[in-house]
Amino acid sequence: MPRKRAIGLGYSRTMAQPDRMSPLDLSKVDEPKFEAHALEPERYTSRDFMLREIDGLWSRVWQIGCLEAELAAPGDFVRADLGRESLLFTRDREGRVRGYYNVCQHRGNRLVGEERGHAGAFVCAYHGWVWGTDGALQRVQDPEDFPQGDPCGELRLNEVRVSLWGGFVWFNLAEDAESLEEFLSPIAQEIDTWRFPEMVRTHHITLEADCNWKVVLDNFHESYHIPTVHPALKFFLDDTYQATRFDLYPNGHTRMWMRGGGPSPRAGDREDRVLQVMKSELEAWDLHPERFRGRVEEMRPALQAQKRALGAKKGFDFSRYVDAQLTDHFHYTVFPNLALSMKPDGCIFLRALPHPSDPEKCVFDVWYFTLFPEGADEYFAMSMSDRVQRDAEVPHQRGKLGEIHLGGGIDEDASVFVSQQLGLRSAGYRGATLADQERRISWYHHVIDRYIAR
Ligand code: FES
Ligand SMILES: [Fe+2]
Repeated sequence: MPRKRAIGLGYSRTMAQPDRMSPLDLSKVDEPKFEAHALEPERYTSRDFMLREIDGLWSRVWQIGCLEAELAAPGDFVRADLGRESLLFTRDREGRVRGYYNVCQHRGNRLVGEERGHAGAFVCAYHGWVWGTDGALQRVQDPEDFPQGDPCGELRLNEVRVSLWGGFVWFNLAEDAESLEEFLSPIAQEIDTWRFPEMVRTHHITLEADCNWKVVLDNFHESYHIPTVHPALKFFLDDTYQATRFDLYPNGHTRMWMRGGGPSPRAGDREDRVLQVMKSELEAWDLHPERFRGRVEEMRPALQAQKRALGAKKGFDFSRYVDAQLTDHFHYTVFPNLALSMKPDGCIFLRALPHPSDPEKCVFDVWYFTLFPEGADEYFAMSMSDRVQRDAEVPHQRGKLGEIHLGGGIDEDASVFVSQQLGLRSAGYRGATLADQERRISWYHHVIDRYIAR
């Protein structure tokens, strides 16, 4: 199975090419007007609300099916599930990426059970009907016995819309949905400045979690929990809301920009700890921590200048980054269920998907992407405390929440998911009281409401 994500593969023809892109625009986005959301308990617990999301939301939003690199050759296929639906993505003989409902059109058997593979055609295990990668029915048992005529060449798999961006195959179950380009605007253009398609997926983890999918996304829509859930972050980023930029986009996506490359005011006088925590990044860029004793505020600009000066020598093309991208933390939420934590040399991909039948469970994906320095086959894995290889086979690790290490920061986030779900289902919870800095949560819930009201 190919794992390397080829340069440039991920850009759909309709989207901007990387060499013609403008730099990341850091200006404040006009804020939409809305009230704080009540976050009523039934949004997280009720089967009725889950069904409304299936009908109004999941049937209309663009979702990621697989990596484009997983469909390198004709006949490669990946199965992806979205709640109770199962989809099949493949590359046909003409080289086109296609997506189908994973259901046989004879009598509805699920067509493919494996998660991925390579096939000349898809053979249903029930009565042996054979479907081509182009979706056409090729062969059936006893074709002369069909009073309406041989169905081969007449029947096709039920196809879904697919589109490519960022090295991913996206799909949408609605035939009349807006284009992927419209749906992702303007954040796709922003994220393109990080050269996402050149990154390699170096960890691939999928967990079943005992919480509603929005419990996961609520967490990734706010930084108010950082001082309590991630107390060590204050030593290398400014976690105060006053210094954090929150941008809300009209179609439900949001962005959060936090200053990195130095401590938060919450670190107080713990300069020794700051220098100790920053040591590895400073030394990786040939800066000595002691130089910043008594002036830690100089670390961020010094790191930016050093990365500019030495980036190419160390195998990084930072030419498209603005200075803030060299040190800071940009956290995008892609409506409704994906969070992308963008780093200068990689990304943490965090996604929650609805469970097929239980509103109090979800599927939680944690994928790490690494931007390897040019010529390097090995590199550090962000916050996973291991090293990763560019061409290594990456196993798909599956388990229950708590069974697999997700990296220090994400383990901390995950530690609150289940206890929050337990509280949300209590008769004692009547709704949320939100701080203004949590308004990204309100915004995506309002956009969910807009979808399910249609
Ligand atoms: S259900 Fe697939 S061949 Fe009968
Ligand atoms: Fe967190």
